[in-house]
Amino acid sequence: MTDDRLIVALDVPNALAGLKLAEQLGTSVGFYKIGLGMLTGGGLALANELKSEHGKRIFLDMKLFDIGATIEAAVRGLAQFDLDFLTVHGDPHVVRAAKEGASGKPMKILAVTILTSLDRADLDAGMIKAGDMPDLVAERAGRAFDAGADGVIASPQEAAMIRALPEAAGRLIVTPGVRPAGSALGDQKRVATPAQAIADGADHIVVGRPIWSAQDPRAAAEAILSELRG
Ligand code: C5P
Repeated sequence: MTDDRLIVALDVPNALAGLKLAEQLGTSVGFYKIGLGMLTGGGLALANELKSEHGKRIFLDMKLFDIGATIEAAVRGLAQFDLDFLTVHGDPHVVRAAKEGASGKPMKILAVTILTSLDRADLDAGMIKAGDMPDLVAERAGRAFDAGADGVIASPQEAAMIRALPEAAGRLIVTPGVRPAGSALGDQKRVATPAQAIADGADHIVVGRPIWSAQDPRAAAEAILSELRG
């Protein structure tokens, strides 16, 4: 059985490249994230193929944000596809509408707290209220859980703090911004190693570039999996 704690971000240009990467990773990876960059490159078709032909689990990372009625309609449409996780922004009205749209389907709604690529200077530029990043993340996570989110997306550096929230009991924590020791950060600013993220309470880690841009993606994925086992 695959260790679905590892979710590989298929941030490659199109469905063909995504399928090729998934074939290279083979049985070592059972859970894939398909994001916005792939949407115009056949992302939904790829999701379908990975699920129905290869038995993989699918996390569709759309980070939806809109008025409630539009979110509900979009999520109801997406819930027709056999998806496992879908992301929306963590604003309570968005989460509530998404849960309504997903009602009756097993698809889990994950709320984005604050993007792991952002730091306080970015929040200032975006006119987000004053406060330390961890406090803002905890507040946003708590509000998303209260609105019904099945889980949150957060930096691994915030996983322990979110896990300790009473509202987080029985909910999922999924952490991108994961970097094996020694690998390039890219634009990620609040990172931790795979083992640390899980030890701090994450249920799943999302890893992209350290796997898909590696010389040998399968070896890179297996190194991460063995770190998790260790
Ligand atoms: O390549 P890397 O490992 O940084 O990829 C992380 C993935 O997780 C990307 O697809 C990115 O869009 C996504 N993500 C993120 N931070 C969030 C939510 C999603 O980095 N808060």
